[in-house]
Amino acid sequence: MKHYIIAGNWKMNTRPSEGLQLLNSICSGLSELSIPANLKVIAFPPHTHLQGAVAATSGIALDIGAQNMHYEAAGAFTGEVSADMLKDLDVEHVIIGHSERRQYFNETNESCNRKLHAAISHSLIPLYCIGETLAEREAERHFAVADEQLEVGLKNVNISRSSQLVIAYEPVWAIGTGRTASPQQAEEIHAHIRRRLIGRFGESIGSEISILYGGSMNAANASGLLAQPNIDGGLIGGASLKTADFLSIVNSALAQIG
Ligand code: PGA
Repeated sequence: MKHYIIAGNWKMNTRPSEGLQLLNSICSGLSELSIPANLKVIAFPPHTHLQGAVAATSGIALDIGAQNMHYEAAGAFTGEVSADMLKDLDVEHVIIGHSERRQYFNETNESCNRKLHAAISHSLIPLYCIGETLAEREAERHFAVADEQLEVGLKNVNISRSSQLVIAYEPVWAIGTGRTASPQQAEEIHAHIRRRLIGRFGESIGSEISILYGGSMNAANASGLLAQPNIDGGLIGGASLKTADFLSIVNSALAQIG
C-alpha cells in the first residue's frame, strides 16, 4: 500500500504566538478528517516554536519537525542546534539540505551527508532535499545533479527500514515561484530517483522510501502530482501557512488513498 507524507515547511515565518494559532487551526481541521496509518502529516515550524508545537500536537495526527540541525553533537557552534537537542524535545523529523540552506548558508552535499548520519543515528527521520537549479535544468543536467546529491549525500548512510529516510525532490526553479513542475516532469525524475534508491538500498527498502515533491505545490495542483506512481507526498512552503490550502492538500492525499 502506498504511504503519503504531507509536510509543511513554514520557513522563517510566524511569531511563536501566530504559529501556535496556525497549528491549532490545522489540528482542528485534521480532527474532522480521519487520518489513516498510511498518511503522515508533518509541520516544520521555526526552532523557536518547536517545544510549544510538540506540546500542542500531543495525541493529534500531526508530527513536528525541525528545519535544520548541526551535525556535531555539542560544542562551540554559536547559533546551531544538535540532533540530541531536537530529540530531547520529542521532535521526530528534520529537513536536511533545503535549497535555501544550500544557497544562502553554503550547505553542500558533504555537509548534508554528515547531517544525515547524525540525524539517523539519533533516530530522527531526515527529509533530505535535492533538486536542480533553472540553469541545470536548462542544460539538461537535472538527472546528473540528482545523482550527485544522492551519491554524496547518502554516502555510507545505512538504514534497515525505509521509514528511516525521506527524500524531497524540490527543483529550485519551482520553489516559491508559482512555477510547478508538471506531474509528468516530476514523475520522470522521481522514477529516476526511485531507481537510484533501489540501487543504493536494495529493492525492498528502496522501493518503499517516500519521495516527496516540493516547489509551489498548492491546493489546485496537488491532486495531479500526488496521483503519480513515484510521488509519495509533498513538502509545501507557501501553501502550508494557510490552513485551508494545507488541509486541501491533505484531502488530495486522502482522495488518492481512497
Ligand atoms: P514553496 O516551497 O511551496 O513555497 O514553493 C517549498 C519548499 O521550499 O519546501
